[in-house]
Amino acid sequence: YVIGIDLGTSSVKALLMNELGEVCGEATKPYPLIQKKAGYSEQAPEDWVEQTTEVLKELVTRFEGKGNLDDIVGISFSGQMHGLVLLDESHEVLRPAILWNDTRTTKQCEEIYQTAGRERILSITKNPALEGFTLPKLLWVKEHEPDLFERASVFMLPKDYVRFKMTGAIHSEYSDAAGTLLLDVPNKKWSKEICDIFGIKDSLCPPLLESHGFAGTLTPEFSRNTGLLAETKVFAGGADNACGAIGANILSEGATLCSIGTSGVILSYEAEDDLDFGGLVHYFNHGKEDAFYTMGVTLSAGYSLSWFKEQFAKEETMEQLLAGVEDIHPGANGLLFTPYLSGERTPHPDAKIRASFIGVDATHTRAHFARAVMEGITFSLNESIEIFREKGKTIDTIVSIGGGAKNPAWLQMQADIFSARVVTLNKEQGPALGAAILAAYGAGLFASLAECAKVFTAYKDEYMPNQENVEHYRKLYALYKKVYPQTKEICE
Ligand code: XUL
Repeated sequence: YVIGIDLGTSSVKALLMNELGEVCGEATKPYPLIQKKAGYSEQAPEDWVEQTTEVLKELVTRFEGKGNLDDIVGISFSGQMHGLVLLDESHEVLRPAILWNDTRTTKQCEEIYQTAGRERILSITKNPALEGFTLPKLLWVKEHEPDLFERASVFMLPKDYVRFKMTGAIHSEYSDAAGTLLLDVPNKKWSKEICDIFGIKDSLCPPLLESHGFAGTLTPEFSRNTGLLAETKVFAGGADNACGAIGANILSEGATLCSIGTSGVILSYEAEDDLDFGGLVHYFNHGKEDAFYTMGVTLSAGYSLSWFKEQFAKEETMEQLLAGVEDIHPGANGLLFTPYLSGERTPHPDAKIRASFIGVDATHTRAHFARAVMEGITFSLNESIEIFREKGKTIDTIVSIGGGAKNPAWLQMQADIFSARVVTLNKEQGPALGAAILAAYGAGLFASLAECAKVFTAYKDEYMPNQENVEHYRKLYALYKKVYPQTKEICE
């Protein structure tokens, strides 16, 4: 057996799987977001540890009588990316973690370009300076909380902190480190040059492992609190998007993923580290050794829909809200939505832009609005696909995971808007599945990630583009693209 832990933005999930790839147990616990001011998004690292302990305890309790605890040969992680956790000399948390969707750091991003030059940043890190990334957050703390910055002895990413509390060992790994803007992505090492330019002590950067690398065994306290054996091995794990990709078998050239969670991503496998996207998409180390992926991000994807439900269908389930959507024609009868509820990343790195509904007609019902929200999210993701296609990539099959893969009308919409075959997986566990695969490979149950992925996951349903809808959406997409430049001015 292996356990995959997915430390998400709203909850932590633990998944127990056997070596045949069967799901044997699952547990989830939520934790709150702390939003002290507009644009701020924080979480208490202690909440992550507490709830991770709880989900593991629950899995262990349910496992009792079904198998031996020493048959659990490995645990690994998937984690929300970019969040900044700061620890002092005695490894106590110094302040709440500043999360990936916190947008307070526009000024720091500008300073990064002014000081180091955009081209230099891009050539070392392969990524643009964006509010969500970790370096701008470190610089924000340095400027606004200098005493605290002085007291920091190491920074960590969210899942790395939880792993530290499990094992007592401090590490990060390449796929998450790639989202800090401090990693020399092609050369897989912390960039001394960037650290020196921005006054980041080398010792603040934790030692790096491969995603399947062995990180340690459990501390006596963590073993006691969860019931897991102290000798249980923990493997480093990966960024949530890398793990989502592993779980969807995006492990070779040509494979493309659409993952709609709180944020949404279009992700494409890369064997090479030297393609040039001019910083338009993210370019990160994969959870597979020496591989990479490129990725465009829609900041408020599933979040746009959950926001809509919260405001206008609070008493209903998501299924009830979406039930009316399939009866509405593509295009929601002229209603268009842009999903910029909290700014955007790809292709518009803009923390200030805000969302819009355009073309509201007195005959539009709530179902039209819900459909327009889903279409707007999908148009936004299509902008990432367009960047990849313009670079010459062939995207004919897209594996869809997450919230966007749960609704048949949305899956057909993806096939029609992306003009590609869209397939779903036989398991819905997403990044937690990738984490379990990393644990199984790390523990030596399989010879490669791909072999493990083949056993743990397979395609289920297939959605083919409907040519009439493809044409219709192509026209609407051209209109959609005009909305950003027009609304940008209002939001400045
Ligand atoms: C990726 C990103 C999000 C988070 C969500 O760059 O910011 O997808 O990883 O957890």
